[in-house]
Amino acid sequence: MNVLEVDNISVRYGDIQALWDVGFGVREGQLVTILGTNGAGKTTTLKTIAGVLQPFSGNVRFNGSLISGLPAHEVADAGISLVPEGRQLFPQLNVEDNLRMGSYLKRTKVRRDQNLKSVYNLFPVLAERKKQEAQTLSGGEQQMLAIGRALMQDPKLIMFDEPSLGLAPILVQEVFNIIRELSRQGRTILLVEQNVHQALKISDYCYVLENGRIVHEGTGKDLEQDPKVREAYLGI
Ligand SMILES: Nc1ncnc2c1ncn2[C@@H]1O[C@H](COP(=O)(O)OP(=O)(O)OP(=O)(O)O)[C@@H](O)[C@H]1O
Ligand SMILES: [Mg+2]
Repeated sequence: MNVLEVDNISVRYGDIQALWDVGFGVREGQLVTILGTNGAGKTTTLKTIAGVLQPFSGNVRFNGSLISGLPAHEVADAGISLVPEGRQLFPQLNVEDNLRMGSYLKRTKVRRDQNLKSVYNLFPVLAERKKQEAQTLSGGEQQMLAIGRALMQDPKLIMFDEPSLGLAPILVQEVFNIIRELSRQGRTILLVEQNVHQALKISDYCYVLENGRIVHEGTGKDLEQDPKVREAYLGI
């Protein structure tokens, strides 16, 4: 059964339609990726799932319950966390305070210390820098902090919006390693990426979004071998 079911959502910003009947599912424990170039509608899709935007048609279900129509904080409370594009940390707060901001929900406040420990276990560099202002961290460390903050919410589904964007190649690899590790731990993940090579390698299933519509889907291996995908996205 799909944990997340996105059922033919259409979304517009004023007069501009950004998504046309986008539908897909994510099963428990799966790592599903949405690929697409700039402006394809990737962020719009994640924001709609997160309750930041509302579809004008179609709906979103999570664990069988309708979540489209709910405000973002209720979607978060239901167990969906978004690691946003550009990280959106609190630049002048230190690492630990940024992490603590992640456990603002009543259900996660009680587990704050325990979750802090597990985030520091996963990212020892954050423990070393817990009193350092977020804005002074390197790009890779900031991405770890953004991921750590999402984990503080005890998510049942974690969504990443282009986590490797703007990072040096070695850090890109590190971010993909982290996502792969979270996936190995059994977490359910929805990833949005433009780094097609890396994303296809780690995904159980992928969807390709173009101009607000899903145009291809398949396992990472299938898409890697699909001539259309190779030509359009892999340059081969
Ligand atoms: N606030 C907004 N107002 C009007 N149009 C918007 C708004 N946000 C996004 N759009 C438009 O919706 C379309 C999809 O944008 P979206 O941000 O979802 O793309 P994306 O796939 O995430 O792109 P990128 O890879 O550049 O982040 C684009 O044409 C964009 O110009
Ligand atoms: Mg985007």
